[in-house]
Amino acid sequence: MRMKQILVADDEPNLRRVLAAQLARDGYEVHAVADGAEALEALEEHHVDVVITDLRMPKVDGMQLLAHVATHHPDVPVIMITAHGTVDTAVEALKLGAFDYVTKPFDREELKHAVDKAARTRELSQRDARVEVRGRYQLIGQSRPMLEIYEVIERVADTPSTVLITGESGTGKELIARALHEQSGRRAEPFIRVNCAAIPPDLLESELFGYEKGAFTGAVTSKPGRFELAHRGTLFLDEIGEIPPSMQVKLLRALQEQEFERVGGIKTLQVDVRLVAATNRDLEQEIASGRFREDLYYRLNVVNVHLPPLRDRTSDIPLLLEHFVAKFSAKLKREVRGFSDEARVLLLRHPWRGNIRELENVVERCMLFCDGEHIEVPHLPAELRRGAENGLATPDGLVAPLELPIVSDGAGLKEAVREATAKLERELIVRALEQTGWNVTHAAKVLKISRKSLQTKMKELGLRDEG
Ligand SMILES: Nc1ncnc2c1ncn2[C@@H]1O[C@H](COP(=O)(O)OP(=O)(O)OP(=O)(O)O)[C@@H](O)[C@H]1O
Ligand SMILES: [Mg+2]
Repeated sequence: MRMKQILVADDEPNLRRVLAAQLARDGYEVHAVADGAEALEALEEHHVDVVITDLRMPKVDGMQLLAHVATHHPDVPVIMITAHGTVDTAVEALKLGAFDYVTKPFDREELKHAVDKAARTRELSQRDARVEVRGRYQLIGQSRPMLEIYEVIERVADTPSTVLITGESGTGKELIARALHEQSGRRAEPFIRVNCAAIPPDLLESELFGYEKGAFTGAVTSKPGRFELAHRGTLFLDEIGEIPPSMQVKLLRALQEQEFERVGGIKTLQVDVRLVAATNRDLEQEIASGRFREDLYYRLNVVNVHLPPLRDRTSDIPLLLEHFVAKFSAKLKREVRGFSDEARVLLLRHPWRGNIRELENVVERCMLFCDGEHIEVPHLPAELRRGAENGLATPDGLVAPLELPIVSDGAGLKEAVREATAKLERELIVRALEQTGWNVTHAAKVLKISRKSLQTKMKELGLRDEG
């Protein structure tokens, strides 16, 4: 488990040393700073769990630091150090949102008690927030990559940083974009989505930045663009990989300068917009082939949220199936409870190239064909039923998706076997990784290969080494 990090701010070197030493002995990682300004920097640099601060410090004092933490890191508890006998300031600190206070000179036990309690509260609030992120936006999934994504959302949602969401089609990019907005202080303001792929290239500029009356034929009135409409809120540029190079330049400028003009307009406009972008393209490859500007990419990719394809988080499939059965039961006013064992095995083995969107559609379709309480094999779409002939299913339904290639005229048996072996290898590796929470060392043990060769294989197979 990660060591909890404590930020200690105190201008007295001796006191700082004593505090740091004691906290380190109690099992915390300590960042000790000499004034409030340094404390603000440390807060940005480290994943601080608890702040302990003196009241009187040069530059930024303890109360100001408290106010900063309360607004920018509301779930980080602050413990105030107060001189013995100054109850008034302690009370005021508590009113302003301090978690607790300790009095100088320190009592070891009192300090330890306060810090432990604060760290524990912080942990609980983080856990709640994660559950909340999951619950409120109906983000289903408890696989390790999804848990990490919830953490990133929670961490970056309420910052102005641009987020680039990547992942194959149907992995949930739009849902994540909405979750980021809802989880931010901008939630009461507009969330404006622009599907860059759906707007003709020559209209994109006026869509994004608006236009003035007479700017072009048909511009009989002036009209604000999506940037203006998203003022104070979030602008979601979906399918960003599709925008033409000429627009990429204009977009970059708008992002960098935080200002733009309407088409045909002379007034420079400024808006306060948080940008989230998404794409199912590999932008680095697009850059290499000259279709996407590198500078724009770096401007967008401040924070990256990568959604893995469903086949790399097969442990989420049962939860998703359950979720969509419940959802469509309610929507279609039906009482379907689940799947027969055989049907479930086929669903678990399916490669889900269309990811969650495909799974959602398949479940809805099954429900339409099923009239009992359970979805059976005949209710499944043909491409899933065909999987039944490919063998390898076991009754526990834990077999990962595996589709055998068809031996075609060109390839022949050898090629088909090679391809099938590669697929099987990938499945087994993913399963071992999932079993061990993507712990490469453990997974290597399970697979009885060295950690190094597992890493090499993961690289070859395009699996991310998260550790
Ligand atoms: N984690 C999830 N839990 C529950 N439902 C999900 C999840 N992720 C995606 N979905 C659902 O799957 C469908 C597809 O999601 P979404 O439209 O966000 O995908 P996308 O990545 O934007 O796809 P595309 O690239 O094709 O636009 C939606 O109906 C969404 O509600
Ligand atoms: Mg989408």
